[in-house]
Amino acid sequence: QIHIEFTEEAREVAAQKLKIGVYFATWWALNVIFNIYNKKVLNAFPFPWLTSTLSLAAGSLMMFVSWATKIAQPPKTDVNFWKALLPVAVAHTIGHVAATVSMSKVAVSFTHIIKSGEPAFSVLVSRFLLGESFSTPVYLSLLPIIGGCALAAVTELNFNLTGFMGAMISNLAFVFRNIFSKRGMKGKSSSVGGMNYYACLSMMSLVILTPFAIAVEGPQLWAAGWDTAVAQIGPNFIWWVVTQSVFYHLYNQVSYMSLNEISPLTFSIGNTMKRISVIVASIIIFQTPLQPINALGAVIAIFGTFLYSQAKK
Ligand code: 3PG
Repeated sequence: QIHIEFTEEAREVAAQKLKIGVYFATWWALNVIFNIYNKKVLNAFPFPWLTSTLSLAAGSLMMFVSWATKIAQPPKTDVNFWKALLPVAVAHTIGHVAATVSMSKVAVSFTHIIKSGEPAFSVLVSRFLLGESFSTPVYLSLLPIIGGCALAAVTELNFNLTGFMGAMISNLAFVFRNIFSKRGMKGKSSSVGGMNYYACLSMMSLVILTPFAIAVEGPQLWAAGWDTAVAQIGPNFIWWVVTQSVFYHLYNQVSYMSLNEISPLTFSIGNTMKRISVIVASIIIFQTPLQPINALGAVIAIFGTFLYSQAKK
C-alpha cells in the first residue's frame, strides 16, 4: 500500500514538473517571436504607446471572443476582484509601456540585459517597502546582478538614457505587478486562474492605457507614421503588427498560467532565463554590434541571477 502511494505521489510530482517545463518552453518561444516582431514594428513605426495599446487590445479581444463562444469559461468576478486588480493593472501598464518605449530607443538585447536585473529590484522592494529580510548570500548575489548590468550599460555602444530608464522603470513596475498578482490569484476560485486573471488584467490595462496613448502620441502622428511604414515595408506591415500583438498576449497568458502554479521567485528566475534566449536570438537576427566587455556584463548579471536563486533556496 505504502509503495503504491509513493509511486503515485512520485508520478504526480513528475507530471507537475513536466507541465511547468512545457509552460516555460512555450513561454520562452512565444516571447522570442514577440520580441523580434515588436522590434521590427518599432523600427518602421516608432510609436511605442500605440503598439503597447494594440498588444493589450489584441489580447482583450481574443479573450472576449473565447468567453463569448465558450471556448474558455468566463470568470465569475465581483467588484472586490476588480478593485484588487486595479493596482496590478496600473503596474502592468507602466511596466509594459516603459519596456516598449525602451525597445523603441535601444537594441532589444540591451533592454533585456537591464531587465535581467529584475531580481535585484525584487529584493530591494521586499526589503525596504515590505520589511522582509534576506540572508547575507542573497544580498551578496545582488552585487554581480547590479555590477553586471552596470558594466553592460556603460559599455553599450548605442546607449540612450530613455532606453535605459524605460527598462529600469519596467523592472520596478513588474516587481509590484508580480507581488500583487500572486496575492490576487491566491485563494480565488479556479475560474479566475492564470489565464482568466491575465485576460482581466489585459482589459483593465487597455482601459487605463488608451487615453494616455492618445495624449502622448495621438491619431495624427499614427496615421502619418502608418503611411510611411506601409510605403517602406509594403501592405504586409499589418501582419507584423498583428503578430507582435497576438504573441504579446500569448506569451503573457502562458507566463500567468505558470505563475499560478509556482512562487514569484521561481517565476522571476524563469523570466531571467527567458531573457538569455531573447538576447541571443535578437543579437543574431538584428546583427547587433556587441563588444566583448559588453557581453561580459550581461553574462555576469545573468550568472548573478543564478547565484541569487541558489541563495534564496
Ligand atoms: C513588455 O512589452 O511588456 C515587455 O517586453 C515585457 O517584458 P517581459 O519580458 O518582462 O515580459
